[in-house]
Amino acid sequence: MSVREVLRMGDPRLLQRAEPITNFGSRELQALLADMRDTMHALDGVGLAAPQIGVGLRVVIFEVNANQRYPDAESVPQTVLINPILTPLSDAMEEDWEGCLSVPGMRGRVPRYTQLRYQGRDENGGVIDRTVSGFHARVVQHECDHLDGILYPMRLLDMRQFGFSDVLFPDQNGQDE
Ligand code: NI
Repeated sequence: MSVREVLRMGDPRLLQRAEPITNFGSRELQALLADMRDTMHALDGVGLAAPQIGVGLRVVIFEVNANQRYPDAESVPQTVLINPILTPLSDAMEEDWEGCLSVPGMRGRVPRYTQLRYQGRDENGGVIDRTVSGFHARVVQHECDHLDGILYPMRLLDMRQFGFSDVLFPDQNGQDE
């Protein structure tokens, strides 16, 4: 287990489409997940996708404790989501601020589907099938975008709503995804 370097925007590996996992329950997958957890916790992140540490596999993790940096956000259970399929449940979208460990020090207002079903597998191949909304739905969309080579600045509608965290929010210490 170790804290890995997180690739930053500009690295071409962040723009690649990641490959599905087939070896559920393997030692390799466990080692990858341990590194992802260590890295996410070390950087106090909300979520992390495998491509962010240079591993081109369809694996994301996320976890939100309500007492962390998004005090208004609801908690999101610690989740390992593999080979995810996302299905928006309506066309409704809402904009909110996001950050990303691959775009350190920045925040942008990103439109995301408000209600979402997500399906996939956990690390042992167990089925995950959840219907979520709000912040939970936002985090899942952000992380799964990484698997398709999409970083949140690519989704901004208004570049005026993009800037440095400490300038936008001088009193806050926001959390990255
Ligand atoms: Ni991110």
